[in-house]
Amino acid sequence: MHLLAIASVSALVALTSALPAPAPAPTYYSPGRQPQSNLNVQLGPRPYYLVNDMDEGPLKDKLVSCKETPKKSSQFSIGHRGAPLQFPEHSNQSYHAAARTGAGVIECDVAFTSDRELVCRHSQCDLHYTTNILAIPELAAKCTTPFTPANGTSPATANCCTSDITLAEFKTLCAKMEAFNPQALNVSQYLGGTPSWRTDLYNYQCATLMSHKESIALIDSWGLDFTPELKEPSVEMPFQGNYTQADYAQQLIDEYKEAGIDPSRVWPQSFVPEDVFYWIENEPDFGRQAVYLDERVDTAAGYVEAVASLPDLAARGVKIMAPAIFALLNVSADGTSIVPSTYADAAAEAGLDIITWSLERSGPYRMAAEMENYYYASVAPVINNDGDVFTVVDVLAQQVGVLGIFSDWPATVTYYANCFGL
Ligand SMILES: *[C@@H]1O[C@H](CO)[C@@H](O)[C@H](O)[C@H]1NC(C)=O
Ligand SMILES: *[C@@H]1O[C@H](CO)[C@@H](O)[C@H](O)[C@H]1NC(C)=O
Ligand SMILES: *[C@@H]1O[C@H](CO)[C@@H](O)[C@H](O)[C@H]1NC(C)=O
Ligand SMILES: *[C@@H]1O[C@H](CO)[C@@H](O)[C@H](O)[C@H]1NC(C)=O
Ligand SMILES: *[C@@H]1O[C@H](CO)[C@@H](O)[C@H](O)[C@H]1NC(C)=O
Repeated sequence: MHLLAIASVSALVALTSALPAPAPAPTYYSPGRQPQSNLNVQLGPRPYYLVNDMDEGPLKDKLVSCKETPKKSSQFSIGHRGAPLQFPEHSNQSYHAAARTGAGVIECDVAFTSDRELVCRHSQCDLHYTTNILAIPELAAKCTTPFTPANGTSPATANCCTSDITLAEFKTLCAKMEAFNPQALNVSQYLGGTPSWRTDLYNYQCATLMSHKESIALIDSWGLDFTPELKEPSVEMPFQGNYTQADYAQQLIDEYKEAGIDPSRVWPQSFVPEDVFYWIENEPDFGRQAVYLDERVDTAAGYVEAVASLPDLAARGVKIMAPAIFALLNVSADGTSIVPSTYADAAAEAGLDIITWSLERSGPYRMAAEMENYYYASVAPVINNDGDVFTVVDVLAQQVGVLGIFSDWPATVTYYANCFGL
């Protein structure tokens, strides 16, 4: 590298053209590495229901052929917040369901408490609709914004943050399905609102909230991999005058080091590029497989900008980009099939790997297509039955070549991964 840097441009061109094509840059992680798990993986009826619902063709034939084979954990299958299609997200129970249904990687979204402990929550300020905090008067009183019922003109409101309470207080709460009823006139109504295609079946006994450290111990006990996401703070940083964003990003990594976890099992993620660069520069063993969650693609202009930025991000040491599913897919020119998007092609060109999110989050696929749901917006015209989800997975796996897929119900992705040896 130093040699090349001092060579003149013309000498460099001559030198590189005389050499064989360079081997792809070695990556620290090994896609396809099987987790060291001895779990008796059980997928339940849903993947079979979806396979049965598929359009006839070779993909369906292949998936039917795997019906009776034993299933095992796969790194390709990532438990998005655990298995929140049916279990309260980021609870012990949700992580158990993810592990049992073959997720090889399980996600803890990381936020901090008032005593600067790290806990698993999708957002620093979601306690009012992912836990029962509003039903516990002494903790509800600590919320940033207390509950106000709906009236004729305004919806019900509340805002309760992990940073409002201590870890000990957080651990007294129960996790619930992520939902709220904006028309609520009282707290018990507010805590309802779960969509009909999810379930409150596991909502009634207290689902256990997890600290980040507890999530590490639990996921490690199964021999599975970790994908913590550093959630953007909802309070001004430095918090309490001296807790900086770098302290927070470092603390997340330190908890894996303290637990003796090999960095090759940790896939730290962030939507904030500076967090990813921080890990690459300060914790290179972990930064090597940091995941840049890319929401720039949400606008047309941002999509173009994101695509154009990929070579520069690769040059800065980023290895894995993670946009939402829609950004990786397109409808073919003849309007009949799903093909990789310009983003997917540009990432491959730049030598970047891809992880994507999130399957099984949109409800029934017919509804998703009719609503042009976020995750399938780019392929809505060619999705019209639940079984089409496996076509989406197949294009992501075989044509885009993603490393893994986040899912709210890991069984679906695990079934595909086992069938195709991923
Ligand atoms: C999670 O649940 C398991 C099984 O029910 C239990 O043994 C374990 O102690 C729980 N862990 C936490 C942190 O609640
Ligand atoms: C409804 O609530 C909003 C916000 O709290 C308030 O500004 C408004 O005056 C209320 N309207 C009525 C009719 O009480
Ligand atoms: C909440 O409001 C509903 C509808 O008015 C009522 O039936 C219910 O008893 C109330 N619950 C509590 C806990 O006050
Ligand atoms: C940070 O500030 C808090 C007060 O807000 C203080 O108690 C604590 O000792 C400080 N920590 C460090 C590392 O300076
Ligand atoms: C989708 O494909 C069309 C051609 O069929 C192309 O013009 C368009 O740029 C593609 N969009 C993306 C985001 O890949």
